Amino acid sequence: MSRRAEVSRRDFMRSGAAAGAGLVVLGATARGQTAKSFKVGLIGCGGRGRGALDNIISAAKALNVDIKVVALADALPDKLAAARDALKGKGQEVPEAQCFAGFDGYKKLMGTDAEIVLMCTSPNFRPAHFEAAVKAGKHVFVEKPVAVDPAGCRRVFAAGGEAAKKGLGVLAGTCLRHDKGYRALRQLVADGAIGRPLGGAIYYCIGRLRFVPREAGWSDAEYMVRNWYNFAEMSGDHIVEQDVHTIDMLNWCMGASPVAAIGIGARHRRQTGNQYDCFSVDFEYPSQVHVHNICRQINGCEWNWANGVHLVGEKGWARFGPGMAAPLVTLWDGTKVPPPAIEVHGSMYVEEHYVLLDSLLKGKPINDAKDVTEASLTAILGRTAAYTGRRAEWKELVDPAAKSDLYDLALKPSPEDFEAGKVTAPKDGEAPAPGKA
Ligand SMILES: NC(=O)c1ccc[n+]([C@@H]2O[C@H](COP(=O)([O-])OP(=O)(O)OC[C@H]3O[C@@H](n4cnc5c(N)ncnc54)[C@H](O)[C@@H]3O)[C@@H](O)[C@H]2O)c1
Repeated sequence: MSRRAEVSRRDFMRSGAAAGAGLVVLGATARGQTAKSFKVGLIGCGGRGRGALDNIISAAKALNVDIKVVALADALPDKLAAARDALKGKGQEVPEAQCFAGFDGYKKLMGTDAEIVLMCTSPNFRPAHFEAAVKAGKHVFVEKPVAVDPAGCRRVFAAGGEAAKKGLGVLAGTCLRHDKGYRALRQLVADGAIGRPLGGAIYYCIGRLRFVPREAGWSDAEYMVRNWYNFAEMSGDHIVEQDVHTIDMLNWCMGASPVAAIGIGARHRRQTGNQYDCFSVDFEYPSQVHVHNICRQINGCEWNWANGVHLVGEKGWARFGPGMAAPLVTLWDGTKVPPPAIEVHGSMYVEEHYVLLDSLLKGKPINDAKDVTEASLTAILGRTAAYTGRRAEWKELVDPAAKSDLYDLALKPSPEDFEAGKVTAPKDGEAPAPGKA
């Protein structure tokens, strides 16, 4: 890891997250060390939440331990009931008394016997939910991104430090880290196959995600929750919500977070909410290494080529992305470098839960809080550059001494506003205007 990255991490910790001192290797008293089964609770019973339950059950089978789903929470009663019914069909009966609807349902779930809590709501709620879980002594699977603003990132970072002190496991849903091909790519780069990375490009270009037009009778809060993929206040915008995957891979391969970003973005065809549907951002890493990032959610455009990670180094180049069986690494003299053998126990979605459970069983709980927070913050940096039209610097987000308004940026409505019933939805169609935002 570069010295610049060390400094930036220290800055971040100084700035209100002093507890987040990185991984703590725990001894024989760590929770769950001798467990042969785990009780699991889920907050956010939508597509990913229900998928994550299936994934942790598959991972547990591979480790020869049992999973009992003991509690569910969802803001919306219909989503809660659908998840409970689906689980019944899979032989997992969650007692009605352990199913909690409403924006404060997560608090009640923290009072149950769940040992591991899966957090799969929209990311704006994550800081509040994660803090509550750590306070209640739960191990956590936390979907990405972990926040939508710098203030939220600091909350997660600090709670991640508390989790480490308490011996709690924290596994992040930045799942490319558990994909065989991406892991091979990262290992090759870390082992110096292409020499020092000098630049590159990363891509996350797909079609439109779902949008939900408003229905009569819905409150602003319900509209925002059902249509969260389209509001920056809920998702962080798609560079944060989705592109965080490739951004995380980039930080992992570079062994650093960027020092600055400059970018553009636009809203061409989105129909609800206030997000952009494309971004083009130049991330500047230490030593003047620049990596270009394109992400897009527009139908009818290139998908296949426009996904993955491409790095150029002193000795050659490396590339991996969807549709490739393994990373391609080619040196300047034409030599192809074979990928290393990587062992996994299922898809990347199963593998991440395998890693969490395995770490608990061994009494050495994994703690991804710092890495996933930095990936989320890197994506927020890129969003800021595009929204404002100016060069945004990492230190503005993490260091109060930089005296930037960005440091305290906390998007509204906040998780607490939802709980208090004080939610006003932003206007559909009003996206940030660079130069004015
Ligand atoms: N790792 C991946 O590949 C991947 C894939 C898809 C989604 N995700 C992430 O998973 C999360 C959920 O995405 P999704 O597609 O399942 O969304 P979704 O809308 O299908 O599900 C979200 C659920 O959370 C509930 N919810 C919202 N606010 C809540 C609150 N305050 N308390 C309790 N419940 C609440 C909603 O009612 C809904 O049922 C997001 O962070 C997303 O970025 C990750």
